[in-house]
Amino acid sequence: MPDGQNTHGQNTNGRDGARSTTEDDITAAVLARFAATPEPRLKQIMLALIKHLHAFVKEVELTEAEWFQAIEILTEAGKMCSDKRQEFILFSDTLGVSMVVDLLGHRKPEGATESTVFGPFHRLGSPDLPPGGNIAHRDTVGVPTLVSGRVLDLDGKPIVGALLDVWQTQSNGLYDSQDEHPDELHMRGKFRTDAEGRYLIRTVRPVNYPIPSDGPVGAMLKATGRHPMRPAHIHFVVMADGYEPVTTHIFDRTDPYLESDAVFAVKESLICDFVRHEAPTAEAARLGIAGPMFTANFDFVLKPTGVAARIDVLDAQRRLAALGARA
Ligand code: BEZ
Ligand code: FE
Repeated sequence: MPDGQNTHGQNTNGRDGARSTTEDDITAAVLARFAATPEPRLKQIMLALIKHLHAFVKEVELTEAEWFQAIEILTEAGKMCSDKRQEFILFSDTLGVSMVVDLLGHRKPEGATESTVFGPFHRLGSPDLPPGGNIAHRDTVGVPTLVSGRVLDLDGKPIVGALLDVWQTQSNGLYDSQDEHPDELHMRGKFRTDAEGRYLIRTVRPVNYPIPSDGPVGAMLKATGRHPMRPAHIHFVVMADGYEPVTTHIFDRTDPYLESDAVFAVKESLICDFVRHEAPTAEAARLGIAGPMFTANFDFVLKPTGVAARIDVLDAQRRLAALGARA
């Protein structure tokens, strides 16, 4: 036991039984108070949290006014959370924490599709659509786009019946849940790969858009001279029995925000060419597309695994839905 501490790590120095404490004494006392945490992982997390949190407060010499301001910001963030808004996920994303967690949790072998942030706008219950099904049926502004490709294993063999859960903003840069009819699903669908592992999605060309910035996250971005923009992208969760699911996006290679995504989610391997055609391709004409259009081709490669990881991703979706994403 260090000098000057009792069995609980409390400081016993001082005159007449009073505890004269320095800031380091407090850190030691708090660490000691958590030292008996029975569950080893919780103990590791709590001890590291206290160590780093106290070190941060000491490093910046946080004032009482600043600490109170932080509490006000967190309170405001909590009040903003609803079935349509998750301000804490926005904080996690804009501080880069979501991407660090993603990178730690999804180390992929060479060749497997890389993951990126889930974001707060996934919804459960999007419709099952046939190959070529249109997720953008209410979007009359965007340029029609066919996204196609295959879902493959690490040996390049097609995965039949893989599920692609897809979501995207409308051409006005808003997700359905942010727009006029928040209860109606739009720009979402579930697609299955065919016997050759192919999928085909009809949509509109994705646009860049700002993350919600009318709350404390927006204030933080403004005060620190950061913009709220995300480069144009389409979200995917791709899963198949026996493979690790991947939560990812494809990004438009021409987007000016690729280098400065507000949530740090761009990975080189996820950047994709959206090719303009002045007249519809034969496949597009068959689907009833007229006039100029875009095509994008992207193959997803899944890593084999047991069923546990699939349960993890579904669980993440359900938990997010319970927190705020609309089911
Ligand atoms: C999104 O792409 O939907 C998103 C991701 C992170 C924060 C906000 C939005
Ligand atoms: Fe998005």
